[in-house]
Amino acid sequence: MLGSFLFLVFLAGAAVTGTPQSSIDQCPGYKVSNVKKGSGSLTADLTLAGTPCNSYGADLKNLKLLVEYQTDQRLHVLIYDADEQVYQVPEVALARVESSEVASNKSALSFDYEEEPFSFTISRDDEVLFNTSASSLVFQSEYLRLRTWLPEDPYLYGLGEHSDPMRLPTDNYTRTMWNRDAYTTPNRTNLYGTHPVYYDHRGEAGTHGVFFLNSNGMDIKINRTTTGKQYLEYNVLGGVLDFYFFTGTDPKEASIEYSKVVGLPAMQSYWTFGFHQCRYGYRDVYELAEVVYNYSQASIPLETMWTDIDYMDRRRVFTLDPERFPLEKMRELVTYLHNHDQHYIVMVDPAVSVSDNEAYQAGVEQGIFLHNQNGSLYEGAVWPGVTVFVDWFNSDTQDYWNGEFDRFFNADTGVDIDGLWIDMNEASNFCPYPCTDPAAFAISDDLPPAAPAVRPSSPRPLPGFPADFQPTSKRSVKRAQGEKGAKIGLPHRNLLSPPYTIQNAAGALSMSTIQTDIIHSGEGYAEYDTHNLYGTMMSAASRVAMQSRRPDVRPLIITRSTYAGAGSHVGHWLGDNVSDWPHYRISIAQILSFASMFQIPMVGADVCGFASNTTEELCSRWAALGAFYTFYRNHNELGDISQEFYVWPTVAESARKAIDIRYRLIDYIYTSLHRQSQTGEPFLQPMFYLYPKDQNTFANDLQFFYGDAILVSPVTEENSTSVNAYFPDDIFYDWYTGAAMRGHGANITLSNIDITHIPLHIRGGNIIPARSSSAMTTTDLRENGFELIIAPGLDETASGSLYLDDGDSLEPSHTTEIEFTYSGGVLHIQGNFGQGSPAKVEKITLLGQSGKSGKNMSIAKTLDLSGPTEVNLK
Ligand SMILES: *[C@@H]1O[C@H](CO)[C@@H](O)[C@H](O)[C@H]1NC(C)=O
Ligand SMILES: *[C@@H]1O[C@H](CO)[C@@H](O)[C@H](O)[C@H]1NC(C)=O
Ligand SMILES: *[C@@H]1O[C@H](CO)[C@@H](O)[C@H](O)[C@H]1NC(C)=O
Ligand SMILES: *[C@@H]1O[C@H](CO)[C@@H](O)[C@H](O)[C@H]1NC(C)=O
Ligand SMILES: *[C@@H]1O[C@H](CO)[C@@H](O)[C@H](O)[C@H]1NC(C)=O
Ligand SMILES: *[C@@H]1O[C@H](CO)[C@@H](O)[C@H](O)[C@H]1NC(C)=O
Ligand SMILES: *[C@@H]1O[C@H](CO)[C@@H](O)[C@H](O)[C@H]1NC(C)=O
Ligand SMILES: *[C@@H]1O[C@H](CO)[C@@H](O)[C@H](O)[C@H]1NC(C)=O
Ligand SMILES: *[C@@H]1O[C@H](CO)[C@@H](O)[C@H](O)[C@H]1NC(C)=O
Ligand SMILES: *[C@@H]1O[C@H](CO)[C@@H](O)[C@H](O)[C@H]1NC(C)=O
Repeated sequence: MLGSFLFLVFLAGAAVTGTPQSSIDQCPGYKVSNVKKGSGSLTADLTLAGTPCNSYGADLKNLKLLVEYQTDQRLHVLIYDADEQVYQVPEVALARVESSEVASNKSALSFDYEEEPFSFTISRDDEVLFNTSASSLVFQSEYLRLRTWLPEDPYLYGLGEHSDPMRLPTDNYTRTMWNRDAYTTPNRTNLYGTHPVYYDHRGEAGTHGVFFLNSNGMDIKINRTTTGKQYLEYNVLGGVLDFYFFTGTDPKEASIEYSKVVGLPAMQSYWTFGFHQCRYGYRDVYELAEVVYNYSQASIPLETMWTDIDYMDRRRVFTLDPERFPLEKMRELVTYLHNHDQHYIVMVDPAVSVSDNEAYQAGVEQGIFLHNQNGSLYEGAVWPGVTVFVDWFNSDTQDYWNGEFDRFFNADTGVDIDGLWIDMNEASNFCPYPCTDPAAFAISDDLPPAAPAVRPSSPRPLPGFPADFQPTSKRSVKRAQGEKGAKIGLPHRNLLSPPYTIQNAAGALSMSTIQTDIIHSGEGYAEYDTHNLYGTMMSAASRVAMQSRRPDVRPLIITRSTYAGAGSHVGHWLGDNVSDWPHYRISIAQILSFASMFQIPMVGADVCGFASNTTEELCSRWAALGAFYTFYRNHNELGDISQEFYVWPTVAESARKAIDIRYRLIDYIYTSLHRQSQTGEPFLQPMFYLYPKDQNTFANDLQFFYGDAILVSPVTEENSTSVNAYFPDDIFYDWYTGAAMRGHGANITLSNIDITHIPLHIRGGNIIPARSSSAMTTTDLRENGFELIIAPGLDETASGSLYLDDGDSLEPSHTTEIEFTYSGGVLHIQGNFGQGSPAKVEKITLLGQSGKSGKNMSIAKTLDLSGPTEVNLK
């Protein structure tokens, strides 16, 4: 068996030199045999149905098919090699969901197949959702192809990470999945993360999602055949065909179903919703202190101060620059911040400098860095010069990482951070492939054009490294590639240049990252297969390390690189964007995809833009837009003009106004995030999530819902003071005046919007528990009472909820969950009222008294939220 397989591989080696593109269409596909049907499952054998075409590696002769009706809304289809040698995404990177096998006749989805050539369809009632007869199935040692038909002009979303429109293009479109340090986040290229899930919204008929659980490099093409038939095609460098199909009556339900596959997102602490300030290029600890002071002087609430790699001693992780960021002063700064209910966060990278430093010595001793095949350390070049990379698959790595965190971020002796920022974890490597001389790329002043970007110069020269260093290798590779049943990868693959080429914008697979033929410790996974998991493995390990420092609180971790399911560990910022209007606009589509479709709700873009100089107008608009991201941080690049909100009076005013609103709404958004962390119901949503039958909303990615109740309609053009905003057939209320506005399924031009203002509307049918006033910190905010804002819907009813806990505990002992409903002129308050001191309502505002002069009614009413009650507002 194994022998004949190897023979095939060598044969393929010869075939590859032919003309693969023409032979791919000659591939014979598979035929089905040995079908076994259970009530909620099906298994079968798939056998190559003719002469191997060996186009991009060898055709595998024997496959297996597994179909599981996992729930009444989810169906799992797995096509894998009979020998189970082929790499499968390890459970440690993404735990598999249990199947609660349901009878197939109870499922909303159904699976059917054709015997020869094998193809399958997934249908919902009579509607075909997925039909793989669009081409023959190809399953080769280094290439998989599966193509499904799509409806004409489909509404497709997802397939991140990208900076293309939220509704994906339907013609001539390629989405490449290969995590990359993508400075300036160019559109139509692969960016930092991999989320191989798409949603197909069919209006009245419902929404379904297709999650392709595969971490290999791939090109997903959305296109038409020459005869105009619409399709989606997976072209994958390895792994197995592992699909989860899920359906909902609307997009929200589909998102909820996805959360059941990849995991519910992490709940965040209350303070994390405050405003964050960062920049690359703060000179020293005194400058940090000055920024904190300047925010305070400008009366702009600053919740958290951040520091980029500047704090490190010559860019080395887990070190402090002794002159500019000395430990004693850093501890003073952090203590000052903590005493003022403010927080502090720094960046950590996965690349460790090989120069003499504790993190390196400890890592070498524990054997947790990546190694070349001959046992020497694999070296690249990142910020500190020559570096080695942490191997997240090594079973000793967690101890190492915890140890470094305990030492460097020690509350008593180190930098007592409150959250963590992890970067460069695609992983990024400045040494272009083939990286034969990393030292040549160690001086960031002198980076070659092939580096991911024109990197700004380093504030001081970077050191060399000990050239004759020969560490001892302690690595253990448990199982060799190719072992039967190991699922760690076929032997004899070309892990550097596979015959099929994906459209990686960086070029070769190993370009500007870790070389793809590196084999990880432990099971022995190849970087070729696991590259896209690197950032998420780091995220999970960092979460454990942060929890080991502070076991009782929710760790805030913001990462650049993500894979499906990362939201259960971390949040995400959109990476190195640009201070320009296109990036301001596209940030909306990007945050919506992450928050609602990928289940990473803690997300935001660098406010005012990272690369290049911002402008007063852009920064002013962005200060307001960013207040409606979940993660709200101003961040800027070294060498650019300062863009702290206090730099311009208009920006300061815009920020103060927007932060005032954001803070008053924190409990509403905290409640919504809590719900998402429990149920997967997304709260930051595209318009079509709430109006799934209104086709005018399907491609709108310039307006969005902040929670179910607030429609955000920012001005999106430079030099403009108006916005053409869409209002579905529903009732809305102006946030600022309370004035009712009847939407008629048409655009309404909102005008005279000065640059410190952002249009907000409350959607009828909602009750918002807002704080009655804002504060300079979220700690003070929690002392303020509530205003209940009732916005009746067209049916004169409304509802809302409020979740309260201590704001920080991983497992809060006392929680309050209140439901508000309004009908017949009466406000009903019910729920679980916890045991802490009750929240106080100070004011109730009833909007748009239709039939009664359209005026709002506000009553000052002090009410303890301590038990069920009713308030008559007639
Ligand atoms: C569903 O299938 C089961 C057996 O698989 C059968 O007993 C049952 O009657 C079927 N129900 C319907 C509604 O067809
Ligand atoms: C799937 O597509 C093929 C054409 O490739 C078509 O003949 C077949 O009817 C489709 N199957 C279903 C269930 O619609
Ligand atoms: C497809 O897109 C590529 C690159 O974006 C472009 O060069 C080519 O002309 C397009 N082809 C068609 C058929 O539109
Ligand atoms: C889309 O299809 C057209 C026509 O078949 C082809 O020319 C083009 O290259 C395809 N685009 C992609 C991205 O595959
Ligand atoms: C893609 O980026 C280019 C360059 O910034 C820009 O001109 C173009 O409008 C963008 N395309 C889309 C569809 O956003
Ligand atoms: C703080 O504000 C002062 C006075 O406006 C200004 O001169 C200084 O540059 C500011 N410092 C920083 C770090 O923004
Ligand atoms: C080990 O392999 C690496 C990468 O191929 C190479 O650069 C290095 O010189 C080798 N070391 C020894 C001692 O052979
Ligand atoms: C940003 O502004 C500074 C100061 O005016 C200037 O020196 C620099 O060249 C500008 N950068 C860019 C990218 O325009
Ligand atoms: C906005 O106005 C400025 C100054 O008049 C001009 O330079 C810029 O091109 C305008 N931008 C647009 C998009 O019209
Ligand atoms: C509303 O305006 C936007 C932007 O100007 C436009 O793209 C959209 O088609 C308009 N929608 C309707 C329903 O007119």
